[in-house]
Amino acid sequence: MKKIGILTSGGDCGGLNAAIRSIFFRAKNKYGMTVFGIKNGTTGLVQRPLDFIELNQKTFSGYLLKQGGTFLGTTNKGSLKAKDKIVDQEKLLIDGYHQLGLDGLIIIGGDGSMNILQKIAKKGNLKIVAIPKTIDNDVGATDFSIGFDTAVNVATQALDNLHSTAVSHSRSMILEVMGRDAGHIALSSGIAGGADVILIPEIKYSIKGIINKLNEMKKRDVKHSLIVVAEAVKMENGKKVIHEFKDGQKRLGGIGEYIANQIMSKTDIECRVTALGHVQRGAPPTANDRILASAFGVYAVDLLEKGKFDKMVAYKNRKIIDVTINEAIKTYKNVERNDPLVETALSLGIYIGDIK
Ligand code: F6P
Repeated sequence: MKKIGILTSGGDCGGLNAAIRSIFFRAKNKYGMTVFGIKNGTTGLVQRPLDFIELNQKTFSGYLLKQGGTFLGTTNKGSLKAKDKIVDQEKLLIDGYHQLGLDGLIIIGGDGSMNILQKIAKKGNLKIVAIPKTIDNDVGATDFSIGFDTAVNVATQALDNLHSTAVSHSRSMILEVMGRDAGHIALSSGIAGGADVILIPEIKYSIKGIINKLNEMKKRDVKHSLIVVAEAVKMENGKKVIHEFKDGQKRLGGIGEYIANQIMSKTDIECRVTALGHVQRGAPPTANDRILASAFGVYAVDLLEKGKFDKMVAYKNRKIIDVTINEAIKTYKNVERNDPLVETALSLGIYIGDIK
C-alpha cells in the first residue's frame, strides 16, 4: 500500500475531521503512505479534472480535530444512483480511482454509502475499507457510529435549555430530533435530558397515552413537561409527516407540530415546539466522538495495510473490531424492545408508548 484515498460520504456529523486526521497520521507515520483527501464525497473521483488534495502535516496543524462537518466536503444526494444520460458515473468513479493510482480507499459513510460503494468496488476492483458514521446510529454490527454521541449531546443540551423555560411558563416543550427511521437519538437524549415523554418510531404511542401522562403529572402539581419526538414517528393515522420541498425532495419533519396540536386541541396545556434539525449534525464533536473517530481511523489503515478489504471497522463490547461490509448493511439497526434503555426509560416513569 503506497497511496490511499479518503472520502466522506452521506450526511455530515461531528467527528469526521478527527477520523481523517487519524487516518493520515497512521498512514504517513507508521507506513509512509501518500494520502489523498477526495473532495465532496464520490464527486471528487467522478468529475474531471479529479478533485482531491494531498494531505500533509500542515493540513492538521490547526484545530480541525475540534471542528464539526468535514473539511473534505460530502454529498448525500445519491448522485450515483441516478445514471447520468451521457456518461456512466460509476465508470468515471472507477477510472478516477485508478487514474489517481490508489492502492486503497477509506470510505467514511453510513449504510447507504457503503451499499453503493461496495457494489462499485466489486465491479472496478477498488480496495475499500469503511468507517461507520451517522448521527442516527443505525448502522448494523457496531454499537456506535461516529457522530451519534455529538448529536445526543446537542439534543440533551437543548432539553436542558428547554427545561427552564418550560418551568417558567408551565408549558409542555416538545423537541423534535433527527434519526431517520431509528429512535436512538430521541431515546438517549430523552433519558439524559429528563424528558417525561419519549416517542420513537419503533414503539407505538397514543395521544391518549401522552395526555394521561401529562394529567398524572398535573395531579402531582407538575405543570411543565418535556417531550422528545423522533422525526420518523408516525401520526395516529399511521402516516409519517413529510414535507415536499421545491427541489422535489421529500424530507421528514413536522411531527412535533402534530403532537403539539393534538395535545392543545384536547387539553388546556400550552405547547411549544423546537425542531432541532441540522444543529445536531454541525456541532463540534464531543470527546467520545473524537476518540472513537481516532481509534477507527487507525484500525482502518491497518486493515488496508494487511490487505483486508471489503470490511467495516466497528465498536463492539468496548473493542474495535472489523466485520464484512455485508454484515454491517444487511440489517438496519433500530431500537429493539429489549434495548436496556427502553427498560431504563420505563423505570424512570417516562411515557415511551403503550407498552409496560
Ligand atoms: O442520516 C442523517 C440525517 O441527519 C437524518 O437524521 C435526517 O433525516 C437526514 O440526514 C437529513 O438529511 P439532509 O442533509 O438531506 O437534510
